[in-house]
Amino acid sequence: MTVIDEGRRAVLALLAKGATATAAGAALATLGGCESLLEQIRNRPMRRDWARLGASDPVKDCYRAAVAAMKALPASDPRHWTKQATIHLDWCPHGNWWFLPWHRGYLLYFEQICRELTGDNTFALPYWNWTCQRSLQPEFLVASASNTLFDATRNSGVNPPPPMSDFNVGPAVMSAILAETNFLIFGSGKVLGQRDRTTQGPLESNPHNSVHGTVGGSGNFGSFMSPLDPIFWLHHGMVERVWWEWNVVRGHANTNDPAWANMRFDNQFVDRSGAPVQTSVGLLNLAPLLSYRYDTSPFDRCGIPLGDRLEVDKAVLRRLLEEGGRAELETVRRVGASRPTELAVGDRATEVLRVRDPAVSANATLGPDDRVLLRLTELEQPATGDFFVRVFVNLPGASAATGVDDPHYAGSFAFFNDPNAHHGGHVHGNAAVMVDATEAVRRLRRLGEIGADGELSVQLIATPFGGRPPRQARLAIGQVELQLARSRAPAPLFMPKGPAQ
Ligand code: C2O
Repeated sequence: MTVIDEGRRAVLALLAKGATATAAGAALATLGGCESLLEQIRNRPMRRDWARLGASDPVKDCYRAAVAAMKALPASDPRHWTKQATIHLDWCPHGNWWFLPWHRGYLLYFEQICRELTGDNTFALPYWNWTCQRSLQPEFLVASASNTLFDATRNSGVNPPPPMSDFNVGPAVMSAILAETNFLIFGSGKVLGQRDRTTQGPLESNPHNSVHGTVGGSGNFGSFMSPLDPIFWLHHGMVERVWWEWNVVRGHANTNDPAWANMRFDNQFVDRSGAPVQTSVGLLNLAPLLSYRYDTSPFDRCGIPLGDRLEVDKAVLRRLLEEGGRAELETVRRVGASRPTELAVGDRATEVLRVRDPAVSANATLGPDDRVLLRLTELEQPATGDFFVRVFVNLPGASAATGVDDPHYAGSFAFFNDPNAHHGGHVHGNAAVMVDATEAVRRLRRLGEIGADGELSVQLIATPFGGRPPRQARLAIGQVELQLARSRAPAPLFMPKGPAQ
C-alpha cells in the first residue's frame, strides 16, 4: 500500500471521528502528520470478549469507571448517561438496512467518550459473546446500588434473567446467519427513510431482538431507552462483532447501493467533547479498519467452524468495505399468502399457511441462487417483548419440545420496539420479518417430505423466553406470504479454511 493510500485512510479516520475536511487536514499537521496517525490506526484498540477477561482486568474497571463518570456529568451534558440513551430513543433505525451502520456509529462515539472520561485512550468496548456465554456475566448481576453494571428493571425485576436459548443464539442459528451472502437479507431490508420499517433479517430479528427480550423484558433493556442498561453496549458490541466477522473474516460484501452508503447520520451522535458529529454510512464502513479491532474467533469455541483468515491483504479488504457489491433480491413468484391470523402464545403450533404449488414441488429445480422465503408482515407489536416465535415447515405436530436441529425448523424471530420513539421521525409501519426457509425445504425434499404435489405448510409456535408465563396471550399477524425469490450477491472473497484448531 502506498503512503498516499495510507494518508488518505488517516484522513478518513479523522473524518470518521467527526472532523470536517479542513479540520482533518489541520489535525494531520498538528499531530505530526500521517506517521503518528498511521501508528494509531495500526495499534487501534481491540474489543474483547468480557467473559475471557480476568476479574480484575483493567478493561472491566475502565468500563465501570466510564459508566460512573457519565452518570456523574451534569444532566445537560450531551455525554450524560441518560442523554446518550435518548440519542437511541430519538434516532435508532430498526427493521431496515441502516440498523447495522447506525449502531456501529453509536458505539464508536460512545467508546470515544469512555476514553475521554477515563483518560484511558487504549480503552475498547468489551462485548458479550452470547453464543458462547448464554447468561449475563456475574458482574452485571450483583444487585447493589454501588454496582454501576446492574439494572433493576431487567425482565421486570427478575434477576438473573434466563439464559439465551439455542433457538436464538445457538451455533446452528449463528452459522446460518454468517453463511448468508446477501446483505439485503443479512442486514435487514431496503427503505428510504431512516426510521421506515420493512422486513428484518435474521441477525436483527432473532439474536438481536431476542437478547433484548430475554434480558430486558418490558424494562429499560426491552425498550428504545435500552442503553440505560450497561449491558446494551456489550450486546451491540457482539452484534457489531457478527457484522465484522461477516465482512472481514468471511469476506461478504455490503450492498453497493448508493442509497445505503450515502445515508448521513448528521447531528445524531456526539464526540468525546460532546460536540455533534457529522458522519455517513460510507465513512462508517471503514471503521473496522481504522478505529477498532476484535479479538479472534469468538465462535470457534462454541461449535461454529472457523478458519484463520487474518492474513488477507489489507488493500483487498479495504476495497471490499469501500465498494461493497451488487446485492439484489428479486421476487420471482408469490406462491401463497395467509389471511390475517392470530397465534396463541404457548406450547402448541398454529398452522398459518398451506399451499400446493408445482413451484415448490420436489420436481422443481432449486438452484444455488433460488430462495424460498417467508415474509411475515403487519405483526402486531406486542406490548411486552417477552416471547419469540419459532417457524416450522410441514410439521403439524411441532411443539415447544421440538429441537433446534429438527429438519423442519426454519428459523425464529422476536420483537423490539418502543411506542415512545418519535423524534427523528416516527417509526413507520408495523414489524415485519423475513425467514429464509430454503434450507429447510431442501432438507425436506431430500427426506421425501415434500413431494411431487408441492404441498407445503407453515407452523408457528410463540414461546415465552425462559419458559415463563407470558404477559401477552396472543399475537396478531397480518399476513404470512411464501415466495420464491432470486438472490444475487457477490461470492465471498475468502472462505473459512475449515475447523480452527
Ligand atoms: Cu437500537 Cu439493540 O438496539
